[in-house]
Amino acid sequence: MRIAVVGVGRIGVFHARHVQELAAERGDCVLAALVDGYGDLAARVAAELQDGQEAPIAAFEDVAALVAAGAADGAFIASRTEDHYRDARTLIDAGMRVLLEKPLTHSLATAREFAAYLDADDFRRTALMQAFMRRFDGPLLYAKEHIDRGAIGTPFKIVSILEDPVPPPAGYNSPGLLADMAVHNIDEIAWFSGQRPERVGGCGSLLYNQGITDVEEDFDDAFLQLYFPGALVGQIAVSRNHVAGYRNETWVYGPEGVVHVGAFSEDPLQVEVEVIGRGGLVARREFPLRDYGVAAPVFMGRFGLAYKAELAYYLDQCVAGAPFAVDHGAGLAALEVAVAGSGALRKKSEEIAVEFTRM
Ligand SMILES: NC(=O)c1ccc[n+]([C@@H]2O[C@H](COP(=O)([O-])OP(=O)(O)OC[C@H]3O[C@@H](n4cnc5c(N)ncnc54)[C@H](O)[C@@H]3O)[C@@H](O)[C@H]2O)c1
Repeated sequence: MRIAVVGVGRIGVFHARHVQELAAERGDCVLAALVDGYGDLAARVAAELQDGQEAPIAAFEDVAALVAAGAADGAFIASRTEDHYRDARTLIDAGMRVLLEKPLTHSLATAREFAAYLDADDFRRTALMQAFMRRFDGPLLYAKEHIDRGAIGTPFKIVSILEDPVPPPAGYNSPGLLADMAVHNIDEIAWFSGQRPERVGGCGSLLYNQGITDVEEDFDDAFLQLYFPGALVGQIAVSRNHVAGYRNETWVYGPEGVVHVGAFSEDPLQVEVEVIGRGGLVARREFPLRDYGVAAPVFMGRFGLAYKAELAYYLDQCVAGAPFAVDHGAGLAALEVAVAGSGALRKKSEEIAVEFTRM
C-alpha cells in the first residue's frame, strides 16, 4: 500500500517514520507522500525522510492535490484538528480508507455530520479508523487482560490521569482541553468497561499553563466524573500543568483488588503494571518504552510503540479488507462525552460556598 501522511507537525513526522519502519519490516507498504499546507513543511520533511528509503516521497500542499496525482492508496491523517473532517472526507470520497488522529473533528456538529456521512454507505462505514492508540498499548492491553480474566472482580471505579508538562506548540489548534486530551481517557474507560456513561460532572480551571502559552483553551486543568449505568464511575484528571514531566496513570478498582498502570517517575522509558488483590500481589510487569534517539514530544516516549502498533493494525485490516475495531463510532462517542463534560465544567453547578464558623 502506498501510504500518505497528512499533516507533518509534531506527531505526523513520527507517524511517517513508523510507515518507513513498517515498510522495511513487512514489505507491504511504502511511505509515498506527505501532505501539509504550512509553508514548505511537507517538502522539508520529505527531503529529511528521503534518506531512509529509495522510493520517492512526494510532497503536496493539500489532500486534493494528493488525490489528483493518484499518489496514495491509504493515509494517516495528523493534520490540525479543525482540518480532520475536510481531509478525511476528501480522501474517503476518493476511495481511500484512512487512519485519523483524535479527536474525530473539532466540534460536535461537524462530528455528527461526518458520522452521518460515513454511516450512509457500505464503503464509508468501514473507511475510517480512529487513532485511539491506547487500545494498542502493551501495558494497557496487559492490564485489560487481567481485568477481563476477573482478577479484581467487576470494576466499580476507573481513574484515568493524563498530565502534560508543557503547553501545546505555538500555532496548535485545540478544540478545548477535554476534546483535545480527555478523549483519550474517555475512550480508555469505555474500552476497559465496555460501557458508555449516562451523565458527567466535573470542574475545570485555568491555572499556570494559560500564562505561558499563546494557545487558547477553555481550561488547562480539569476533573471529570463519569456516571455509568449500574455501579461504575469513571474519574478523569487532565492537566497541562504537570511541569515535572509527562504523567499517565490508570487505576481500576474492583471488589477483589486493583490494577495500576504507570506511575509518575523521572524515568520516562519504563511503565509498570501491577495487579494487587486482597491477598497481595497477583502480577507485576515492567514494560520498556522506546527511545527515538532524537528530540521528540513527551507522548512519543510513552506511546511510540502503541502508535506504531495501531498503524500496523490499520495496514493489516486494509490488506485483509476487514473492518476496524475502533472506528468513527468510538471517535464520536468519546467526543460526545467530552463536549457534555465541557458543558458541565462551564456550568460550575457543583460549587457551594464554604461557611466557616471561626475566623
Ligand atoms: N494520539 C495522540 O496522542 C496525539 C498526540 C498529539 C497530537 N495528536 C493529534 O494530531 C493532530 C496534529 O497534532 P500535532 O501535535 O502534530 O500538531 P502541530 O500543531 O504540531 O501540527 C499540525 C499542523 O499544524 C501546522 N503547523 C505547524 N507549525 C505551525 C505553526 N507554528 N503555526 C501554525 N501552524 C503550524 C502544520 O500544518 C501541521 O501539519 C491533532 O489532531 C492532534 O489532536 C494526537
